[in-house]
Amino acid sequence: MILVFGKNGQVATALQEVLPNALFLDSKEADFLFPDKIATLLDEKKPQIIINASAYTAVDKAEDERETSLTINAKTPGVIAHWCKQNNCTLLHYSTDYVFRGDGDRPWLENDPTSPVNWYGETKLQGEKEILASGCNAYIFRISWVYSPWGNNFPKTILRLAKEREQLSVVNDQWGAPTDARDVARVSAKLVKNLESKLPCPEPGIYHLRFEEYQTWHQFASNIVEKARAAGENLKVKEIRPVTSSEFPTKAKRPGNSRLGSKYPQGLFE
Ligand SMILES: NC(=O)c1ccc[n+]([C@@H]2O[C@H](COP(=O)([O-])OP(=O)(O)OC[C@H]3O[C@@H](n4cnc5c(N)ncnc54)[C@H](OP(=O)(O)O)[C@@H]3O)[C@@H](O)[C@H]2O)c1
Repeated sequence: MILVFGKNGQVATALQEVLPNALFLDSKEADFLFPDKIATLLDEKKPQIIINASAYTAVDKAEDERETSLTINAKTPGVIAHWCKQNNCTLLHYSTDYVFRGDGDRPWLENDPTSPVNWYGETKLQGEKEILASGCNAYIFRISWVYSPWGNNFPKTILRLAKEREQLSVVNDQWGAPTDARDVARVSAKLVKNLESKLPCPEPGIYHLRFEEYQTWHQFASNIVEKARAAGENLKVKEIRPVTSSEFPTKAKRPGNSRLGSKYPQGLFE
């Protein structure tokens, strides 16, 4: 049985379309603030494959909610990984571009040194370390800038603001690649189906996934508005002003270079 944590998140919602027979649990049924209860739940359900799409993803709020975000992003994933090791279960977990320090302009490879610039990134890095230390069969997909038709995300915010305002200011010095949650779900489903059918799969480990071109948030916003206009949306916005991160202060620092590259052939999981 495949068990998916984080039922209502962007990636998990996309997973529901491609893994209709998996068991999806939400944060009420499986609250990551209580690691012991998660271990008990796993003893009851006895999955063969776990996909962890649960996470504390509020990057700015994490600066204030340090223990909560650490428990959800690191301690409980560590408990799950430990259970997987003891029960011969495979874990697929998601991590982030924010594990890197974000300088330079070269895309980060899987084995580049990590050094998060904010607490959210730190908690996600600790989660990776807990999982790897357990010695379980684990795939960790690092992804960046996730968007989808569900939940709150950048394209939705830009479209709402573009309907309300004539001018928008968007940062133009942070680089990364937007990621459609449905692309993540597609390659995740392919991997778990291959694992279930005992078909050849890449070795467990950390992998960077990228599906779209590197761009800045400003370029991403401009593309979103352009596409919406081409699709006939009535937008008020006339100008999208490029600004620097220093003109747009946030509680948590953001890495300037969030480009995820890979040392593996492109499309390894396609
Ligand atoms: N969003 C991004 O831009 C981004 C970028 C890079 C990497 N990632 C990683 O990709 C993965 C999926 O992200 P996403 O965008 O799909 O996240 P998301 O939409 O924010 O969803 C997160 C999920 O985690 C659940 N969750 C929160 N607190 C929980 C708790 N105490 N116990 C159990 N579940 C809890 C939420 O449940 P409720 O809805 O019930 O609260 C929600 O279903 C995460 O590992 C994230 O770190 C995301």
